[in-house]
Amino acid sequence: MKKKIVFSGIQPTGLLTLGNYIGALKQWKKLQKKYFCIYCIADLHSLTIHQKKNILNKNILDVLAMCLACGINPEKSIIFIQSHVPQHSQLNWILNCFTNFGEIKRMTQFKEKIFLNKNINVGLFNYPILMAADILLYQTNKVPVGKDQIQHIELARDIAYRFNKIYGNIFTIPEKILNYNGSCIMSLINPNKKMSKSDTNNNNIISLFDNDSIIKQKIKNAVTDSNYPPIIKYDFKNKPGISNLLVILSNITEFSIEKLEKDFQNKNYNSFKESIVINLCLFLNKLRKKYFFYRKNEKYLKSIITNGAEKAKKYANITLKKVYNVIGLDI
Ligand code: TYM
Repeated sequence: MKKKIVFSGIQPTGLLTLGNYIGALKQWKKLQKKYFCIYCIADLHSLTIHQKKNILNKNILDVLAMCLACGINPEKSIIFIQSHVPQHSQLNWILNCFTNFGEIKRMTQFKEKIFLNKNINVGLFNYPILMAADILLYQTNKVPVGKDQIQHIELARDIAYRFNKIYGNIFTIPEKILNYNGSCIMSLINPNKKMSKSDTNNNNIISLFDNDSIIKQKIKNAVTDSNYPPIIKYDFKNKPGISNLLVILSNITEFSIEKLEKDFQNKNYNSFKESIVINLCLFLNKLRKKYFFYRKNEKYLKSIITNGAEKAKKYANITLKKVYNVIGLDI
Protein backbone atom coordinates (compact mmCIF):
# COMPACT_ATOMS: atom_id res chain seq x y z
CA MET A 1 0.00 0.00 0.00
CA LYS A 2 1.19 3.53 -0.77
CA LYS A 3 2.48 5.32 2.29
CA LYS A 4 0.53 8.31 3.52
CA ILE A 5 2.28 11.66 3.24
CA VAL A 6 3.57 13.76 6.11
CA PHE A 7 4.63 17.36 5.52
CA SER A 8 5.99 19.94 7.93
CA GLY A 9 8.24 22.97 8.04
CA ILE A 10 10.48 24.96 10.31
CA GLN A 11 11.81 28.49 9.96
CA PRO A 12 15.56 29.11 9.84
CA THR A 13 15.48 31.89 12.40
CA GLY A 14 17.90 32.04 15.29
CA LEU A 15 18.62 29.17 17.61
CA LEU A 16 16.14 26.33 17.86
CA THR A 17 14.56 25.71 21.24
CA LEU A 18 13.54 22.70 23.24
CA GLY A 19 9.98 23.64 22.21
CA ASN A 20 10.86 23.16 18.53
CA TYR A 21 12.43 19.81 19.37
CA ILE A 22 9.63 18.42 21.55
CA GLY A 23 6.73 19.90 19.58
CA ALA A 24 8.06 19.18 16.10
CA LEU A 25 11.46 17.60 15.39
CA LYS A 26 11.02 14.68 17.77
CA GLN A 27 7.82 13.74 15.96
CA TRP A 28 9.36 14.32 12.55
CA LYS A 29 11.89 11.59 13.28
CA LYS A 30 9.35 9.07 14.57
CA LEU A 31 6.93 9.54 11.67
CA GLN A 32 9.57 8.43 9.15
CA LYS A 33 8.92 4.81 10.19
CA LYS A 34 5.35 4.79 8.97
CA TYR A 35 4.95 7.66 6.49
CA PHE A 36 6.59 9.19 3.46
CA CYS A 37 7.88 12.39 5.01
CA ILE A 38 8.58 15.72 3.34
CA TYR A 39 10.20 18.40 5.50
CA CYS A 40 10.93 21.95 4.50
CA ILE A 41 13.11 24.72 5.84
CA ALA A 42 10.74 27.63 5.47
CA ASP A 43 13.14 30.39 4.45
CA LEU A 44 10.42 32.38 2.65
CA HIS A 45 8.40 32.54 5.85
CA SER A 46 11.42 33.86 7.70
CA LEU A 47 11.55 36.92 5.40
CA THR A 48 8.62 38.50 7.24
CA ILE A 49 11.42 39.68 9.52
CA HIS A 50 14.21 41.36 7.57
CA GLN A 51 17.21 39.06 7.39
CA LYS A 52 20.90 39.70 6.79
CA LYS A 53 22.19 37.69 3.81
CA ASN A 54 25.09 35.94 5.54
CA ILE A 55 23.11 35.21 8.67
CA LEU A 56 20.20 33.73 6.73
CA ASN A 57 22.61 31.55 4.69
CA LYS A 58 24.19 30.32 7.91
CA ASN A 59 20.87 29.78 9.69
CA ILE A 60 19.56 27.62 6.85
CA LEU A 61 22.57 25.31 7.09
CA ASP A 62 22.38 25.33 10.90
CA VAL A 63 18.75 24.23 10.87
CA LEU A 64 19.40 21.59 8.22
CA ALA A 65 22.27 20.15 10.29
CA MET A 66 20.05 20.17 13.39
CA CYS A 67 17.28 18.35 11.52
CA LEU A 68 19.80 15.65 10.56
CA ALA A 69 21.09 15.50 14.14
CA CYS A 70 17.50 15.00 15.32
CA GLY A 71 17.23 11.95 13.10
CA ILE A 72 15.75 13.16 9.81
CA ASN A 73 17.10 10.73 7.27
CA PRO A 74 17.52 12.25 3.78
CA GLU A 75 17.68 8.74 2.28
CA LYS A 76 14.15 8.02 3.49
CA SER A 77 12.56 11.46 3.57
CA ILE A 78 12.74 14.59 1.46
CA ILE A 79 14.27 17.61 3.16
CA PHE A 80 14.53 20.80 1.15
CA ILE A 81 14.61 24.58 1.22
CA GLN A 82 11.24 26.20 0.52
CA SER A 83 12.54 28.94 -1.82
CA HIS A 84 14.30 26.36 -4.02
CA VAL A 85 10.92 24.96 -5.08
CA PRO A 86 9.16 27.87 -6.84
CA GLN A 87 5.88 25.98 -6.97
CA HIS A 88 5.29 27.09 -3.34
CA SER A 89 5.12 30.74 -4.36
CA GLN A 90 3.12 29.93 -7.49
CA LEU A 91 0.44 28.03 -5.59
CA ASN A 92 0.55 30.67 -2.86
CA TRP A 93 -0.70 33.33 -5.29
CA ILE A 94 -3.53 31.14 -6.48
CA LEU A 95 -4.59 30.31 -2.92
CA ASN A 96 -4.49 34.04 -2.04
CA CYS A 97 -7.36 34.39 -4.45
CA PHE A 98 -9.34 31.70 -2.63
CA THR A 99 -8.85 33.13 0.87
CA ASN A 100 -11.00 35.77 2.47
CA PHE A 101 -9.50 38.85 4.03
CA GLY A 102 -11.55 38.28 7.20
CA GLU A 103 -10.20 34.74 7.63
CA ILE A 104 -6.64 35.97 7.83
CA LYS A 105 -7.49 38.93 10.00
CA ARG A 106 -8.73 36.45 12.60
CA MET A 107 -5.45 34.49 12.76
CA THR A 108 -4.18 34.69 16.34
CA GLN A 109 -0.49 34.66 15.39
CA PHE A 110 -1.06 37.50 12.92
CA LYS A 111 -2.78 39.57 15.58
CA GLU A 112 0.04 38.88 18.05
CA LYS A 113 2.72 39.67 15.47
CA ILE A 114 1.27 42.98 14.34
CA PHE A 115 1.06 43.96 17.98
CA LEU A 116 4.74 43.14 18.61
CA ASN A 117 6.34 44.05 15.27
CA LYS A 118 7.46 47.44 14.02
CA ASN A 119 7.74 46.04 10.51
CA ILE A 120 4.14 45.10 9.71
CA ASN A 121 4.55 43.90 6.14
CA VAL A 122 2.02 42.15 3.90
CA GLY A 123 4.10 38.96 4.19
CA LEU A 124 2.96 38.66 7.80
CA PHE A 125 -0.63 38.72 6.60
CA ASN A 126 0.04 36.27 3.80
CA TYR A 127 2.07 33.93 5.99
CA PRO A 128 -0.66 31.32 6.71
CA ILE A 129 -1.64 31.15 3.03
CA LEU A 130 1.96 30.34 2.07
CA MET A 131 1.82 27.64 4.74
CA ALA A 132 -1.37 26.29 3.15
CA ALA A 133 0.43 26.20 -0.21
CA ASP A 134 3.35 24.31 1.38
CA ILE A 135 1.02 21.68 2.75
CA LEU A 136 -1.43 21.31 -0.14
CA LEU A 137 1.25 21.05 -2.85
CA TYR A 138 2.25 17.59 -1.61
CA GLN A 139 -1.23 16.05 -1.15
CA THR A 140 -0.33 15.90 2.52
CA ASN A 141 -2.30 13.64 4.85
CA LYS A 142 -0.67 14.59 8.16
CA VAL A 143 1.09 17.69 9.45
CA PRO A 144 3.12 17.30 12.65
CA VAL A 145 3.26 20.65 14.45
CA GLY A 146 3.14 22.31 17.84
CA LYS A 147 -0.10 23.71 19.21
CA ASP A 148 0.69 27.25 17.99
CA GLN A 149 0.24 26.11 14.38
CA ILE A 150 -3.20 24.48 14.76
CA GLN A 151 -5.11 27.49 13.47
CA HIS A 152 -2.92 27.59 10.37
CA ILE A 153 -3.64 23.93 9.62
CA GLU A 154 -7.36 24.63 10.01
CA LEU A 155 -7.02 27.41 7.45
CA ALA A 156 -5.22 25.09 5.01
CA ARG A 157 -8.11 22.63 5.40
CA ASP A 158 -10.71 25.36 4.80
CA ILE A 159 -8.95 26.59 1.67
CA ALA A 160 -8.64 23.02 0.37
CA TYR A 161 -12.35 22.32 0.97
CA ARG A 162 -13.31 25.56 -0.75
CA PHE A 163 -11.13 24.85 -3.78
CA ASN A 164 -12.26 21.23 -4.04
CA LYS A 165 -15.90 22.26 -3.87
CA ILE A 166 -15.45 24.34 -7.01
CA TYR A 167 -12.97 22.21 -8.97
CA GLY A 168 -13.34 18.62 -7.74
CA ASN A 169 -10.95 16.65 -5.56
CA ILE A 170 -7.71 18.45 -6.30
CA PHE A 171 -6.26 18.71 -2.79
CA THR A 172 -6.02 16.11 -0.03
CA ILE A 173 -7.47 17.48 3.20
CA PRO A 174 -4.60 17.53 5.72
CA GLU A 175 -4.84 16.66 9.42
CA LYS A 176 -2.61 17.89 12.20
CA ILE A 177 -0.54 15.57 14.37
CA LEU A 178 0.38 16.86 17.82
CA ASN A 179 2.79 15.45 20.35
CA TYR A 180 0.06 15.09 22.97
CA ASN A 181 2.72 14.97 25.67
CA GLY A 182 4.33 18.27 24.64
CA SER A 183 2.38 20.17 22.03
CA CYS A 184 3.25 23.45 23.72
CA ILE A 185 6.39 23.78 25.81
CA MET A 186 6.12 26.86 27.95
CA SER A 187 8.55 29.57 28.99
CA LEU A 188 10.67 28.72 32.05
CA ILE A 189 10.06 32.03 33.78
CA ASN A 190 6.46 32.58 32.67
CA PRO A 191 4.93 29.12 32.23
CA ASN A 192 1.69 30.62 30.93
CA LYS A 193 3.48 31.79 27.79
CA LYS A 194 4.89 29.64 24.94
CA MET A 195 8.66 29.00 24.84
CA SER A 196 9.60 30.87 21.68
CA LYS A 197 12.90 31.30 19.84
CA SER A 198 12.04 34.94 19.17
CA ASP A 199 11.79 35.66 22.91
CA THR A 200 14.01 38.57 23.85
CA ASN A 201 14.58 37.21 27.37
CA ASN A 202 16.95 34.29 26.95
CA ASN A 203 16.09 32.95 30.42
CA ASN A 204 12.64 31.96 29.15
CA ILE A 205 13.99 29.41 26.72
CA ILE A 206 16.28 26.41 26.53
CA SER A 207 18.18 26.60 23.27
CA LEU A 208 19.40 23.33 21.80
CA PHE A 209 22.84 25.00 21.98
CA ASP A 210 22.83 25.91 25.66
CA ASN A 211 25.87 24.47 27.44
CA ASP A 212 25.76 22.61 30.77
CA SER A 213 26.31 25.63 32.99
CA ILE A 214 23.67 27.71 31.19
CA ILE A 215 21.17 24.85 31.43
CA LYS A 216 21.92 24.50 35.14
CA GLN A 217 21.35 28.21 35.67
CA LYS A 218 18.16 28.36 33.62
CA ILE A 219 16.55 25.32 35.26
CA LYS A 220 17.56 26.61 38.68
CA ASN A 221 15.72 29.87 37.89
CA ALA A 222 12.69 28.15 36.33
CA VAL A 223 9.48 29.13 38.08
CA THR A 224 7.83 26.43 40.22
CA ASP A 225 5.31 27.26 42.96
CA SER A 226 5.20 27.75 46.70
CA ASN A 227 3.19 24.61 47.60
CA TYR A 228 4.24 23.24 50.97
CA PRO A 229 5.03 20.39 51.16
CA PRO A 230 6.24 20.51 47.55
CA ILE A 231 4.17 18.38 45.15
CA ILE A 232 5.56 17.13 41.84
CA LYS A 233 2.37 16.46 39.95
CA TYR A 234 0.95 17.35 36.53
CA ASP A 235 -1.78 19.92 37.02
CA PHE A 236 -1.31 22.62 34.43
CA LYS A 237 -4.07 24.88 35.69
CA ASN A 238 -2.77 25.15 39.24
CA LYS A 239 0.89 24.18 38.81
CA PRO A 240 1.98 25.39 35.33
CA GLY A 241 5.71 25.61 36.18
CA ILE A 242 6.02 22.10 37.62
CA SER A 243 3.77 20.67 34.89
CA ASN A 244 5.94 22.22 32.16
CA LEU A 245 9.10 20.81 33.75
CA LEU A 246 7.47 17.37 34.04
CA VAL A 247 6.59 17.45 30.34
CA ILE A 248 10.17 18.43 29.47
CA LEU A 249 11.67 15.65 31.61
CA SER A 250 9.21 13.10 30.27
CA ASN A 251 10.08 13.95 26.66
CA ILE A 252 13.81 13.82 27.26
CA THR A 253 13.83 10.57 29.27
CA GLU A 254 10.83 8.89 27.53
CA PHE A 255 9.44 8.10 31.01
CA SER A 256 5.71 8.75 31.34
CA ILE A 257 4.47 11.63 33.45
CA GLU A 258 2.81 9.06 35.80
CA LYS A 259 6.13 7.29 36.37
CA LEU A 260 7.93 10.56 37.02
CA GLU A 261 5.23 11.64 39.48
CA LYS A 262 5.74 8.37 41.35
CA ASP A 263 9.55 8.60 41.27
CA PHE A 264 9.47 12.14 42.67
CA GLN A 265 6.82 11.54 45.30
CA ASN A 266 8.00 13.10 48.58
CA LYS A 267 11.04 14.66 46.85
CA ASN A 268 11.67 18.39 46.88
CA TYR A 269 11.85 20.74 43.90
CA ASN A 270 15.65 20.92 44.10
CA SER A 271 16.14 17.22 43.52
CA PHE A 272 13.53 17.31 40.72
CA LYS A 273 15.42 20.16 39.06
CA GLU A 274 18.76 18.37 39.53
CA SER A 275 17.40 15.39 37.66
CA ILE A 276 16.17 17.65 34.85
CA VAL A 277 19.60 19.27 34.57
CA ILE A 278 21.42 15.91 34.42
CA ASN A 279 19.09 14.49 31.79
CA LEU A 280 18.91 17.63 29.68
CA CYS A 281 22.70 18.07 29.64
CA LEU A 282 23.16 14.44 28.64
CA PHE A 283 20.56 14.71 25.92
CA LEU A 284 21.73 18.04 24.48
CA ASN A 285 25.41 17.07 24.55
CA LYS A 286 24.65 13.99 22.47
CA LEU A 287 22.47 15.99 20.08
CA ARG A 288 25.12 18.67 19.63
CA LYS A 289 27.82 16.10 18.90
CA LYS A 290 25.73 14.84 16.01
CA TYR A 291 24.94 18.41 14.97
CA PHE A 292 28.61 19.42 14.71
CA PHE A 293 29.37 16.24 12.79
CA TYR A 294 26.89 17.28 10.07
CA ARG A 295 27.46 21.03 10.29
CA LYS A 296 31.15 20.86 9.46
CA ASN A 297 30.46 19.01 6.22
CA GLU A 298 28.96 21.79 4.08
CA LYS A 299 29.49 19.82 0.88
CA TYR A 300 27.24 17.06 2.21
CA LEU A 301 24.64 19.57 3.42
CA LYS A 302 24.57 21.26 0.02
CA SER A 303 24.13 17.93 -1.75
CA ILE A 304 21.12 17.22 0.47
CA ILE A 305 19.69 20.63 -0.43
CA THR A 306 20.12 20.04 -4.17
CA ASN A 307 18.68 16.52 -4.10
CA GLY A 308 15.86 17.55 -1.80
CA ALA A 309 14.75 20.37 -4.10
CA GLU A 310 14.88 18.12 -7.15
CA LYS A 311 12.71 15.47 -5.51
CA ALA A 312 10.28 17.98 -3.99
CA LYS A 313 9.79 19.74 -7.35
CA LYS A 314 8.61 16.51 -8.96
CA TYR A 315 5.79 16.09 -6.44
CA ALA A 316 4.97 19.78 -6.30
CA ASN A 317 4.69 20.00 -10.06
CA ILE A 318 2.07 17.27 -10.26
CA THR A 319 -0.30 19.21 -7.99
CA LEU A 320 0.47 22.59 -9.55
CA LYS A 321 -0.25 21.24 -13.04
CA LYS A 322 -3.61 19.90 -11.87
CA VAL A 323 -4.43 23.28 -10.35
CA TYR A 324 -3.40 25.19 -13.48
CA ASN A 325 -5.46 22.81 -15.55
CA VAL A 326 -8.72 23.08 -13.61
CA ILE A 327 -8.44 26.83 -13.31
CA GLY A 328 -7.74 27.31 -17.03
CA LEU A 329 -4.16 28.56 -16.89
CA ASP A 330 -2.57 25.80 -18.97
CA ILE A 331 -3.43 26.84 -22.50
P1 TYM B 1 8.39 27.53 13.63
O1 TYM B 1 9.67 27.61 12.91
O2 TYM B 1 7.96 28.69 14.46
O3 TYM B 1 8.38 26.26 14.58
C1 TYM B 1 8.70 24.97 14.08
C2 TYM B 1 7.87 23.93 14.80
O4 TYM B 1 8.12 23.99 16.21
C3 TYM B 1 6.89 24.04 16.91
N1 TYM B 1 7.08 24.78 18.17
C4 TYM B 1 6.71 24.33 19.37
N2 TYM B 1 6.12 23.19 19.76
C5 TYM B 1 5.87 23.02 21.08
N3 TYM B 1 6.20 23.96 22.02
C6 TYM B 1 6.79 25.12 21.67
N4 TYM B 1 7.12 26.02 22.59
C7 TYM B 1 7.08 25.34 20.29
N5 TYM B 1 7.66 26.36 19.61
C8 TYM B 1 7.65 26.00 18.31
C9 TYM B 1 5.95 24.77 15.96
O5 TYM B 1 4.60 24.52 16.28
C10 TYM B 1 6.35 24.17 14.63
O6 TYM B 1 5.69 22.95 14.42
N6 TYM B 1 5.04 28.42 10.09
C11 TYM B 1 5.82 27.39 10.68
C12 TYM B 1 6.75 26.69 9.70
C13 TYM B 1 6.04 26.14 8.50
C14 TYM B 1 5.18 25.02 8.47
C15 TYM B 1 4.76 24.90 7.10
C16 TYM B 1 4.75 24.11 9.44
C17 TYM B 1 6.11 26.65 7.25
N7 TYM B 1 5.34 25.91 6.41
C18 TYM B 1 3.87 23.91 6.74
C19 TYM B 1 3.86 23.11 9.03
C20 TYM B 1 3.44 23.01 7.70
C21 TYM B 1 6.68 28.01 11.77
O7 TYM B 1 6.92 29.17 11.78
O8 TYM B 1 7.20 27.12 12.64
